Amino acid sequence: MNQPKIIQLPKFLDARGNLSFAEEFKQIPYKIARTYWIYDVPGGEIRGGHAYRENEEFIIALSGSFDVILDNGIEKQTYSLNRSYYGLYIPKGFWREMNNFSTNSLALVLASTPYCPNDYIYDYEHFKRYANEKK
Ligand code: TYD
Repeated sequence: MNQPKIIQLPKFLDARGNLSFAEEFKQIPYKIARTYWIYDVPGGEIRGGHAYRENEEFIIALSGSFDVILDNGIEKQTYSLNRSYYGLYIPKGFWREMNNFSTNSLALVLASTPYCPNDYIYDYEHFKRYANEKK
């Protein structure tokens, strides 16, 4: 998959409380190497603002809501996450930002690679050149 995609996760609705899950190579289209989460985001803050050369990600709004803005170097698309049974798959090579975090929102990120600072592209002009060379 080389396009972003909202993926609906299984959900077991139950009077005792609901349950959803994700497994690597099933709902998640790669082996999960790392997980991290973003929380206690002050109102109005923006996270992200970078691209990865190799890392793929799957983002779930476990609690609350936020927007993920993806940019392929030509156009931007905004994905609103507000349910804990939907995830956004992000292929490598997309510039991404996250904003509009609601109070007490919790973003879970399942990543395909271990943390590697060299995998990041932090400069937007650099990213645009990189993205266009790849096309
Ligand atoms: P960063 O990826 O820059 O956050 P954002 O996606 O909001 O831009 O990460 C913030 C800091 O956390 C950075 O100094 C590196 C550190 N970090 C790790 O050590 N391991 C990780 O897996 C991640 C995602 C970040």
